[in-house]
Amino acid sequence: MLLNTDRQSLVWKLMGYVYVTHLWPLINANLVPVNLRGPAFSLLGAKIGKSVMVGGKILDPSLVEIGDYSMLGEDCLLTSHAVEGDRVDLGMIVVGRNVTVGVKAVVLPDVHIGDNAIVAAGAVVKKGSRIGAGEIWGGVPARRIGEVGRGEGVRERGRDEEM
Ligand SMILES: CC(C)(COP(=O)(O)OP(=O)(O)OC[C@H]1O[C@@H](n2cnc3c(N)ncnc32)[C@H](O)[C@@H]1OP(=O)(O)O)[C@@H](O)C(=O)NCCC(=O)NCCS
Repeated sequence: MLLNTDRQSLVWKLMGYVYVTHLWPLINANLVPVNLRGPAFSLLGAKIGKSVMVGGKILDPSLVEIGDYSMLGEDCLLTSHAVEGDRVDLGMIVVGRNVTVGVKAVVLPDVHIGDNAIVAAGAVVKKGSRIGAGEIWGGVPARRIGEVGRGEGVRERGRDEEM
């Protein structure tokens, strides 16, 4: 559901003003350490779980929820608004628990990502996408490209494969 009620638009505009004029320069300059960006975005209205690592950017904190232990990779972007010509679509982005959003991925409005899912590096997740728990989505636009396997941990590609 895209949220285009007057009230939500007003809140979004007010938050956007404060955010862009006062806080965006700090975040853009990477002055806030990765492990403190979760609490920082919480103060701005996002619902952020525990131990969330935020390496990327959240453009509309009041329209974002992120579950425990999730990670937003470096330079990814969560935007809950999309300006398209003379209209603006607003939609909640809801990220489950233990989700990985890959480096440089873009997540557009009204996207829900289930627990343990992975958004691949560089993916563009289009408006209204519903990513199921444990699914891997990648590409532009992003589509389901796989499922998270069992028993995965740290792998050293190359070395482990040779053994
Ligand atoms: C998507 C991803 C999880 C797949 O990793 P993997 O399970 O090791 O799988 P492989 O590299 O063997 O690739 C499996 C398939 O996915 C495709 N794929 C891999 N990365 C992709 C990407 N970024 N976008 C689109 N497709 C991708 C491969 O082409 C391959 O397709 P094929 O089976 O048709 O040949 C991984 O490439 C990725 O993007 N991880 C994100 C890591 C990240 O940025 N973390 C946050 C910061 S540390």
